[in-house]
Amino acid sequence: MFIESLEHRYATKKFDEKRKISQEQLDRILEAGRLSPSSYGLQPYRFVVIEDYKTRQEISPACYQQPQINAASHLILLQVRKTIDIAFINTYIELIATERSMPIASLTEFKNMIIGSTIGHPQAEVFSWSSKQAYIALGFMIFAAALEKIDACPMEGFHAVNLDELLKTDADYQTVALLTLGYRDSQDPFADFKKVRWSREHLVVNYPSPKEDELPIKQQQ
Ligand SMILES: Cc1cc2nc3c(=O)[nH]c(=O)nc-3n(C[C@H](O)[C@H](O)[C@H](O)COP(=O)(O)O)c2cc1C
Repeated sequence: MFIESLEHRYATKKFDEKRKISQEQLDRILEAGRLSPSSYGLQPYRFVVIEDYKTRQEISPACYQQPQINAASHLILLQVRKTIDIAFINTYIELIATERSMPIASLTEFKNMIIGSTIGHPQAEVFSWSSKQAYIALGFMIFAAALEKIDACPMEGFHAVNLDELLKTDADYQTVALLTLGYRDSQDPFADFKKVRWSREHLVVNYPSPKEDELPIKQQQ
């Protein structure tokens, strides 16, 4: 039952430095990210996997020395395209045509919809939209790790410009989030912290309200 896995997972602060996750487990977590949905299916992101210890030491200052960077088994960077241009959209349309054995011409309307939502819009707006897509993939990978009983910590605590400079990230991409993966250290006190979540009543709102005196808007008009 997946709820148990979600209760077991927590944002791991202290990883067991000696334990590595297997390549198969890593691949399945990455595959969960690859299978993640995105708006128009455009997937304007990529996942950069770092295992190399030296690299992680080098980027640690850009991640405010958070201990997970060095102690985890693997680090995944979620990088987003800074812009969506016509070449990228064309490549995606060609991929659909190939994968689904469709004529490119039948995708013209769909392509124009993507163009209408991206080309000519302010770069910051498109980047923010693309980042949202990447965060869905982040969620999928966190979930997959939990199902694998792999510990993980999603991380935004880093300086994106410094990090991308240190890694010599292509100018087309920017790192928006990190995911550290590995096994919890038995001494990590955070593992035993009770989860703090809003109550179901606060979080989940039924509309229209089942209360008799609160009529739905349509009926009030
Ligand atoms: C997008 C995102 C960014 C986060 N950044 C960090 C971070 O930089 N460092 C850290 O230790 N935890 C980070 N966290 C972990 C959250 O603090 C944690 O998920 C939250 O407190 C809920 O606790 P739980 O995940 O243990 O249930 C981040 C979580 C998310 C979803």
